[in-house]
Amino acid sequence: MTADRTKRNCLAVILAAGESTRMKSSQSKVLHPVAGRPMIAHVVDALARAGISDIALVLGRDAEKVEAAARNAAVSSSVHIQTERLGTAHAVLAAREAIARGYDDVLVVFGDTPLITEAPLVAARDGLAHGADVVVIGFETADPTGYGRLIVENDELVAIREHKDASEAERAITYCNGGLMAIDGRKALDLIGRIGNSNAKGEYYLTDIVEVVRAAGGRAVAVEAPEEELTGCNTRAELAVIERLWQQRRRHEMMLDGVSMIAPETVFLAYDTEIGRDVTIEPNVVFGPGVTVESGAVIHSFSHVEGAHVSAGAEVGPYARLRPGANLGEGAKVGNFCEVKKAEIGAGAKVNHLTYIGDAFIGARTNIGAGTITCNYDGINKHVTRIGADAFIGSNSALVAPVSIGDGAYIASGSVITADVPDDAVAFGRARQENKEGRAALIRARNQAIKDAKKKAAP
Ligand code: UD1
Ligand code: CA
Repeated sequence: MTADRTKRNCLAVILAAGESTRMKSSQSKVLHPVAGRPMIAHVVDALARAGISDIALVLGRDAEKVEAAARNAAVSSSVHIQTERLGTAHAVLAAREAIARGYDDVLVVFGDTPLITEAPLVAARDGLAHGADVVVIGFETADPTGYGRLIVENDELVAIREHKDASEAERAITYCNGGLMAIDGRKALDLIGRIGNSNAKGEYYLTDIVEVVRAAGGRAVAVEAPEEELTGCNTRAELAVIERLWQQRRRHEMMLDGVSMIAPETVFLAYDTEIGRDVTIEPNVVFGPGVTVESGAVIHSFSHVEGAHVSAGAEVGPYARLRPGANLGEGAKVGNFCEVKKAEIGAGAKVNHLTYIGDAFIGARTNIGAGTITCNYDGINKHVTRIGADAFIGSNSALVAPVSIGDGAYIASGSVITADVPDDAVAFGRARQENKEGRAALIRARNQAIKDAKKKAAP
């Protein structure tokens, strides 16, 4: 045995064969998203960060979808179906084939605890490297109701008592089982195989491994992790708690990394949101997946940003919507009530008010007037609008794609542009204005006469 964890190999067994009954959902709970990504993907990510590359997934319902959601380039995984749900020990044995390949460490984790980080997983494996046979990840809590209690004597874990089987004195214990544990990989199958089901629920409890290993002369210990990391998800209400905790944690990390948030509790991040230094995020901003914001940019209030890149010094909002493929150059501006989709907005270009830009390329420093619309969709296909640098698009113009507007070109306000406009040209795509001298007074007099006649006729 080596005392160096990094020289030991490890299989992580993720238990996710539950029915998710209390979620009242048409899909397995581990598929429900936290920060825009399935819960189980967060668990796999924590394992990958802890340096674990082999994973056995124990699945029940929605196995194919869960397997896809758990896919991660850094790990190789095998799927094991638990057909009958006879308890957590029985679930681990569903992965017997994988465990039998022979590992130094077997780490058992739950698919429904997505806030777990690498630190407790590493600590549990370190416990094995230092000679324990079983290391259980525990937590202290104010309300231990429902959890298995950790019974510790002289730094050794002597038993885990499930709430239903605990005595009055044991129920007073606030040190609880988080459900995650590391087991000596060479002994795991033998130890788990000895677990019986004589308990209140008639289930094979993995937690009984503690008494089993001690009876065999082995040693079990507990390592403590923050309660938050072991928060499990059984209901939608708990899912919302997990989301809140995840958001708090990530906002805090970002602020420590140099991002300003005026009201952080109103900013919602996705699992992969990347924000640079000296970016200011105003209150009430929502980030969907796939967003990067470079240093010094400002995201004003009430903006919704997804699948977009915002370059250094650019400004977004208030009330802007950036959809997938929006790519703002340095110092570009997308202002209030503007929507941008799959479009490049050149450096220093301005799209300031009430505009839709979709499937477009806009050159540097170009100004897009209020109410401009790229008509990109003909009902069947999408078409591209190209606008050069230093162009000026007058307000309320409709640019009917496919269409190109050259560098330095001007588009008269209210134009409907259906043909390409060369560099430096001015395009008028609207009816010519006509003024009829005195005509307004005539209309007014006629309308007044109609109103008077109606009044006279009334009884
Ligand atoms: C478990 C622990 C308890 C701990 C608590 C922490 C046991 C016996 N009890 O209780 O000590 O305090 O977690 O949250 O381990 N699963 C299967 N197949 C099964 C049974 C369970 O895949 O046959 C999966 C579930 O989907 C879930 C996990 O194992 O992801 C835990 O099972 P669950 O029934 O929720 O255990 P708890 O009663 O919460
Ligand atoms: Ca549970």
